[in-house]
Amino acid sequence: MSDAFKVALAGLGTVGGGVVKLLLEQKDVLKKRCGWPIELAAVADLNPDRARALGVPETTAFYTDAREMVEKTDADVVIELIGGADGIAYDLCRSALGRGKSFVTANKAMIAHHGNELARLAEERGVFFGYEAAVAGGIPIIKSLREGLVGNRISEIYGILNGTCNYILTVMRETGRPFGDVLADAQKLGYAEADPSFDIDGIDTAHKTCILGALAFGMPVDLAALSVEGIRSVADTDIDFAEELGFRIKLLGVGRRCDGGVSLNVYPCMIPQTAEIAHVDGVFNAVVVEGDFIGHTMFVGRGAGERPTASAVVADIADAAMHRGLPLLNVANKEVRPVAIVPLSERVGEYYVRFEVDDRPGVVADIARVLGVNGVSIASMIQRGRRPDGTVPLIMTFHRSKESAVTAALSEIERLPCVSGKPCMIRIERL
Ligand SMILES: NC(=O)c1ccc[n+]([C@@H]2O[C@H](COP(=O)([O-])OP(=O)(O)OC[C@H]3O[C@@H](n4cnc5c(N)ncnc54)[C@H](OP(=O)(O)O)[C@@H]3O)[C@@H](O)[C@H]2O)c1
Repeated sequence: MSDAFKVALAGLGTVGGGVVKLLLEQKDVLKKRCGWPIELAAVADLNPDRARALGVPETTAFYTDAREMVEKTDADVVIELIGGADGIAYDLCRSALGRGKSFVTANKAMIAHHGNELARLAEERGVFFGYEAAVAGGIPIIKSLREGLVGNRISEIYGILNGTCNYILTVMRETGRPFGDVLADAQKLGYAEADPSFDIDGIDTAHKTCILGALAFGMPVDLAALSVEGIRSVADTDIDFAEELGFRIKLLGVGRRCDGGVSLNVYPCMIPQTAEIAHVDGVFNAVVVEGDFIGHTMFVGRGAGERPTASAVVADIADAAMHRGLPLLNVANKEVRPVAIVPLSERVGEYYVRFEVDDRPGVVADIARVLGVNGVSIASMIQRGRRPDGTVPLIMTFHRSKESAVTAALSEIERLPCVSGKPCMIRIERL
């Protein structure tokens, strides 16, 4: 290695642009902290104007073909900031690892889909593989799990991992406006994509949750193990009733050790207003870790955006420069063990349900009968706000019940003539 640690960076978009700015602005401090100057040896993007606009030095090689950059560069580390589970990002990654180069990415989709294979490749090649920015943006949760919390057995890890969803749920609560209106505004403000499904259907949260599950529980990255629900079905009515019942609605990724294995799921849930994480609002992310020695620990910060994400990427570059080799999945590949996945149908917990029912005598009795037959017991009930068409929202919360019993009861209730539409069920988590 020369007297500089050389970086080759593919993708000069939001995150890549932030990384270039950080490397240039914090050049001196990084040199002191890493022991080497960090040199931007090569960059690649489809558009050469981006490099010029960012003030990339003249001495930095520019490529429009990122594959060519990885093949030709003598850089010590390749940074992939293009995105996508497969295609160019995956090619660059395998090519860089195959050439024995350290690799850094912010690409949660790629790790969620190929993390096990990449962990094996990185280990075989003995190179550093960093993906701090892939989960919760600027929050150093991967580093915390791989380093600061390494002495703990983790029983539970959960978090608000998608700023778009948290922003939408926060604005719905603060303004009383419906989901569709708030989503449209979030799109105008650039907080949600034109096609928002990746965020609002929980897929992005699922990618991050399966990565956290692997790190926390020593298991392979297993996206298919997750049951995933997004926030499309959360109505303004549910947000109002949640407040009245003492809850907040948050989309959480939840990983838990439980009898018989591990459960890993993504769903919107009602959490007590007294829980600290209930107060993490707007585009902020939070991750809570329950470790046997550390106890309850919460990390809060910006989960996305140019500067926070660049901060996380550069932390990985610094680790690579200082040769801090850490196993990609926290434990060496041979120590990664499959664990039994406990399905969501086995969950035992409390539930909130909103039924849309005809406002007439006997309806509550009909619903209560079905619940009783299925062994589900009602904890509280609110009926208010008759609509002009004669329907009314009927809100119930259930005592701790098995999820399979709740879903069986709800599918039977959905077929009752007095009930319109599908009941909206939201899990209650006493965090
Ligand atoms: N944005 C965030 O806040 C954030 C937070 C955490 C993690 N991440 C992750 O970071 C990664 C990058 O996200 P981003 O938001 O920075 O994306 P972005 O703004 O779309 O940037 C991607 C850049 O890569 C360029 N590109 C596309 N195909 C290329 C190719 N074949 N060769 C070279 N360059 C190519 C794009 O050019 P064109 O625009 O011309 O296509 C664009 O400049 C993703 O994996 C994302 O999940 C993002």
